[in-house]
Amino acid sequence: MANTVPDISLNDGNTIPQLGFGVYQIEPKDTAEAVGRALEIGYRHIDTAQMYGNEAGVGEAVRASGLDRGEVFVTSKLNNGFHRPEEARRAFESTLSALKTDYVDLFLIHWPLPTRYDGDFVSTWKTLEEFQRDGRARSIGVSNFQVPHLERLAAEADVVPAVNQIEVHPYLTNEQVRAYGSKHNILTEAWSPIAQGRVLDDPTIVDVAEQVGRTPAQVVLRWHVQRGDIVFPKSTTPKRIEENFQIFDFTLDDTAMERISGLDKGEAGRTGPNPDEFDYIPA
Ligand SMILES: NC(=O)c1ccc[n+]([C@@H]2O[C@H](COP(=O)([O-])OP(=O)(O)OC[C@H]3O[C@@H](n4cnc5c(N)ncnc54)[C@H](OP(=O)(O)O)[C@@H]3O)[C@@H](O)[C@H]2O)c1
Repeated sequence: MANTVPDISLNDGNTIPQLGFGVYQIEPKDTAEAVGRALEIGYRHIDTAQMYGNEAGVGEAVRASGLDRGEVFVTSKLNNGFHRPEEARRAFESTLSALKTDYVDLFLIHWPLPTRYDGDFVSTWKTLEEFQRDGRARSIGVSNFQVPHLERLAAEADVVPAVNQIEVHPYLTNEQVRAYGSKHNILTEAWSPIAQGRVLDDPTIVDVAEQVGRTPAQVVLRWHVQRGDIVFPKSTTPKRIEENFQIFDFTLDDTAMERISGLDKGEAGRTGPNPDEFDYIPA
């Protein structure tokens, strides 16, 4: 079986590679090197954000790779401090200039911040709709939106988000939000897909990995893609960047899939903040 990354269709007609490379917590000075390595291995989808402070390194690596801009899918996300429309417009321009590109493939509202901005994330979303209309964001979506937040967008806005990027891994399978997404044609992107390493020594994961002759990280990433979600594991370790890419040349059977899904701990399994409460704004 060849190791080919599938392209998945978004609800706006664009496509996205199901496996990408995440750059959260990669130092700005190390980003171009890590992304360059990922592009050499074959990754064609990079997930960054304004709040990661490393968009410039992503752009630098894409240009240095010799690939055409159109061959690499680049996502960025709006800084929590810039939800008001005027600020969002300025911030979006700063993303394009940091990346040195005239469009992003996908732009997301990073967090809904329901306790900030008088609970208004709808005007922020309508501002992202402008970026899509003028072609500078090919697709637009949200991140960390809970079901009531998505319902509110459905009632008050025109465009259905192409994706919702949420925390998902074997300890937090996040079924309710995923189910809303599948019902409404919003793809789920699973962030912290290996729970930042925390699930890798779980005895069930280790056992499945031994059975299929793969590493725990490969098994967990494979579980995500068989569920239909998009993943972009982060690593600055060259061997792991390569390991995480080799997940399309084997399959997990139903029993293995169910054993891994059975590890869900619900809210107790969250590694990141709860989106209903999270209100962080960078200084
Ligand atoms: N929208 C959001 O709010 C949000 C929040 C969090 C993350 N994200 C996105 O999701 C991406 C991935 O999530 P994440 O970075 O939080 O965590 P992750 O990808 O689940 O895990 C990354 C950690 O696991 C280690 N690792 C990676 N591959 C491994 C392997 N094969 N074996 C053993 N350890 C391995 C890495 O170490 P080394 O680097 O030392 O190798 C790193 O410490 C982020 O980079 C970001 O793009 C989005």
